[in-house]
Amino acid sequence: MLYDQVLQATKKIQSDTPLIPQVALILGSGLGDLANEIEQAVSIPYEEIPHFARSSVVGHAGRLLLGKLEDVAVVAMQGRFHFYEGHSLSTLTLPVRVMAMLGARILLVSNAAGGVNPNYRAGDFMLLRDHLALPGLAGANPLLGPNDERFGPRFPPLAHAYDADLCQLARSVAATLPELTLHEGVYTMVAGPSYETGAELRFLRIIGTDAVGMSTVPEVIVARHMRMRVLGVSLITNTATGEESAEIKHDDVLHIADAARVRFAALVRGIMRGIA
Ligand code: HPA
Repeated sequence: MLYDQVLQATKKIQSDTPLIPQVALILGSGLGDLANEIEQAVSIPYEEIPHFARSSVVGHAGRLLLGKLEDVAVVAMQGRFHFYEGHSLSTLTLPVRVMAMLGARILLVSNAAGGVNPNYRAGDFMLLRDHLALPGLAGANPLLGPNDERFGPRFPPLAHAYDADLCQLARSVAATLPELTLHEGVYTMVAGPSYETGAELRFLRIIGTDAVGMSTVPEVIVARHMRMRVLGVSLITNTATGEESAEIKHDDVLHIADAARVRFAALVRGIMRGIA
């Protein structure tokens, strides 16, 4: 049963470190370097954790780190799992349940995303105010199947999925970082791994998308099921309005993420100081 799998994974991690994390971090494409700044870190490769999948994407290491960031006890996923890798949604989101079970009450989730809003530029950041779960609406929701009440309710509300106080904190931190542009908007999850056609991008804009990506939403749904408070941040790695002259490449996504590393670290560190 999923509950037992989560317990087994949690126990393995607890046998490696007594640290009780307050905040869980999921570091998206190219943003994983921040995990190397975690102090007194205990690092556990995913393959050593029972029931964890393996991360197969370039730009995603595969390990869990537990330690301190700005004096806040954190658990960080350096490398996440994606639907397009072929994982089931319950496998893909198992680490979120484990991080909640370890004690984390806040999830800070990041990703690389395409800027569908024409005002967004590569290198900008976007705070997730809300999301559109395209696979979720179409039948790929991580909560499908029997509900285990020990995790959370059958019908968790998602009207306020993204925590207003944490958003306010992120805004106030961003205001102190002149080199960083922080938009706020709606993140739409697509399954991927193919990038969108022009027609798809125009459709996504019409339905209210500001940024498009291939992750995050399943983790957020499960985090809310576990009653975690969620903050989501996208790094805009490319424009995705359907008017682009150049085709988007995964390498370009990683390149922009690499260039944004220092700004992303400053943002997350500021948020941690606010949480402390
Ligand atoms: N589309 C989908 N996912 C992405 C993109 C994009 O343009 N950029 C980074 N992740």
